[in-house]
Amino acid sequence: MTVRGAEPGDAEAVRAIRNHAIEHSTALWTQTPQSPAEGAAWLAAHLERGSAFVAEAEGEVAGFAVYGPWRELDGYRHTVEDSVYVREGRHGLGVGSALLTALIASAREAGHHVMIAGIEAENAASVRLHERFGFQHAGTVREVGTKFGRWLDLTIMRLSLD
Ligand SMILES: CC(C)(COP(=O)(O)OP(=O)(O)OC[C@H]1O[C@@H](n2cnc3c(N)ncnc32)[C@H](O)[C@@H]1OP(=O)(O)O)[C@@H](O)C(=O)NCCC(=O)NCCS
Repeated sequence: MTVRGAEPGDAEAVRAIRNHAIEHSTALWTQTPQSPAEGAAWLAAHLERGSAFVAEAEGEVAGFAVYGPWRELDGYRHTVEDSVYVREGRHGLGVGSALLTALIASAREAGHHVMIAGIEAENAASVRLHERFGFQHAGTVREVGTKFGRWLDLTIMRLSLD
């Protein structure tokens, strides 16, 4: 498996992974899948910042990771939020860890100060992945989201990049 910077040609593979998570999980709190145009625009915004990576295994995109602004106001400009998604069927094989390694290194190199992860509280795989890289639990905000007819709690995790 190799991790490399994402390219515009990865947009459809990335969109398929995202849309699968939108349709089948509570990792992304929406039930509206991305269209091809929305997927291309979403990835392009990350490509401009150089904040998107893909993992390739056996000739296919096995997962992707991006970081972007945590909040929009300029006072938050040294804080980024990450997002890591591995293709169904390739979970638990180290793909997420390889992607997060590259993502953290890139955010550090870009001079960011803090990386935040916002995780649905019951997503044990994502919590474990982030713990493994030294993210610390900053708290869980109860019932701030909803999907599939139930309330969702958001666990915030924080990594210092200095
Ligand atoms: C969360 C996710 C990115 C993790 O990537 P991955 O490639 O499966 O993870 P890795 O194989 O690198 O494993 C990382 C750690 O998580 C643990 N882990 C993996 N799957 C797990 C699971 N289902 N339950 C508990 N821990 C799990 C691994 O054991 C490993 O910890 P360890 O080093 O202590 O053994 C992946 O499962 C995924 O894409 N899930 C769906 C989308 C999602 O939830 N994204 C995150 C949104 S916040």
